[in-house]
Amino acid sequence: MGEFENKVAIVTGSTSGIGEATARALVAAGAKVILNSSSSAEAGKVLASELGKSACYHRADVSSESECIGMVEATLETFGQLDILVNNAAGNFISPTERLSHRAFDAVVDIVLKGSYNCTLCLGKYWIKEKIKGNVLSTLTTYAFTGSGWVVPSACGKAGVLGMTRSLAVEWAKYGIRLNAVAPGPFPTEGAWS
Ligand code: HXC
Repeated sequence: MGEFENKVAIVTGSTSGIGEATARALVAAGAKVILNSSSSAEAGKVLASELGKSACYHRADVSSESECIGMVEATLETFGQLDILVNNAAGNFISPTERLSHRAFDAVVDIVLKGSYNCTLCLGKYWIKEKIKGNVLSTLTTYAFTGSGWVVPSACGKAGVLGMTRSLAVEWAKYGIRLNAVAPGPFPTEGAWS
């Protein structure tokens, strides 16, 4: 407790599931948190009011670079600093791969992979310029390492985030920027189970 006092975090996809639990834990440990989702603005505002002055909701679709930039600018305006990024927003269709349309594949990879690099690059550029030793934590799944049938777009996207994490952890080490990822197994949250 208190470990994250004077720290500000963005947690993407944090109006439900693992993202919400992460945001709650960060606030309990003293951080200020920007809650985010691309929809569910109502749930975001309810959660923000429950968490009080330490939380604020910002709607942004992470697959859009300009919306990620807008979210970072809004965070700096609200809390004056930004130290931590949690790349958690995700989408997933459980389906035989040959039945997925091209757009379905894009929809998942755009959120998982493109969303993670949009936010990470936007913040990394800011941290390097301002000489801030920021932290990035990304939510993977165990099949980022093993692969898995019926979730191929998600497996590709998460494996890409793993590659980005390992690559930038080395490339940005000289700036003191750390990148880590966690790979939970199945969590029975509404997003994953539905
Ligand atoms: C196959 C589907 C589909 C489905 C939509 N599509 N639902 N294909 N199975 N169930 C197709 C559509 O027909 C369309 O293609 C294309 O995908 C895009 O659909 P949209 O609805 O327009 O996409 P979008 O609005 O971008 O929404 C995508 C989404 C949404 C954000 C992923 O479906 C969503 O909110 N899902 C719930 C959240 C979620 O998935 N959470 C899972 C996180 S868990 P066409 O060609 O018809 O236009 C996770 C880790 C899993 O990621 C770990 C498990 C162990």
